[in-house]
Amino acid sequence: MTPEELDECFEFVQNLIRQCGDIFLDGFKDCGKVENKGSHYDLVTVYDRKIENVLINGIKEKYPNHKFIAEEDQSSTKQPPILTSAPTWIIDPIDGTTNFIKKLHFVCISVGFAINNDLKIGFIFNPVLNEFYSARKDQGAFLNGKKIFARKSEELKGSLIAQCIHIGGIPAFKHQFMERTTTFLRKTIGIRVFGSAALTLAYVASGAIDAYTIEYLKPWDIAAGVLIVQEAGGIVIDTNGGDCNIMKPNIIAAGTMKIAMEIKNVFDEIDARLEIEGKLPRQLMDKS
Ligand code: IPD
Ligand code: CA
Ligand code: CA
Ligand code: CA
Repeated sequence: MTPEELDECFEFVQNLIRQCGDIFLDGFKDCGKVENKGSHYDLVTVYDRKIENVLINGIKEKYPNHKFIAEEDQSSTKQPPILTSAPTWIIDPIDGTTNFIKKLHFVCISVGFAINNDLKIGFIFNPVLNEFYSARKDQGAFLNGKKIFARKSEELKGSLIAQCIHIGGIPAFKHQFMERTTTFLRKTIGIRVFGSAALTLAYVASGAIDAYTIEYLKPWDIAAGVLIVQEAGGIVIDTNGGDCNIMKPNIIAAGTMKIAMEIKNVFDEIDARLEIEGKLPRQLMDKS
């Protein structure tokens, strides 16, 4: 795609996402029937599917050769999604479905766009708070049209961070989760859990929080947010210290590499200790 074509594409999909805002707000008032997708905490409403369909059909009509990796579309297949070099939209129609059902304001539509496996566009739209985050590769990140910047804190001391909590509910992850949480509580000024991974990445990008770490996610939870953090001057690495892989999201996102590495070192120290005690998740899963 030429830069002009990419500009046009950005405008077109941005408008389409804004149009989905009305459907989103209808559902936020009354989401109707709630179903689960196999486990009691994996919830879905008709609005997740409605918004996803509007986005996919709208984009397909204008760009018939584009591909899609989208949460609800994916639920019908058991195959893990594959990102090819083709222009691909990575869509989470509602990130924070549980919040959406409970009428908590931390909810959004998250849409990322990659070509040649490289993120080019990211959109995160919270219709309830009317907050629209966007980024174009090499062109910065914006909130409602105003440039945003990640916070430049260099240490956990004095920082506010966000963490995932659901893994703590799985018995094999309990020790690792408790150790990480107690360490972060000691080292930072606090931990927040918002219930929307995409929006939490947007908060790293806007400097509302200093860092965020979450593992075992799906590409649609983070694709848009990764680009928005990077374009806001922040960094996103894999929890093993390497480059972040959007198809296998185990991530540390932060305003600076120093904080990201401090978090990675916390993980490594805890894992080394747990390994001796035979309490690493994989050791516990092997036993069961
Ligand atoms: C969820 C949210 C949540 C994260 C879960 C995700 P969904 O996405 O991002 O913050 O902890 O792992 O599945 O299902 O609400 O789109
Ligand atoms: Ca879901
Ligand atoms: Ca999600
Ligand atoms: Ca979702």
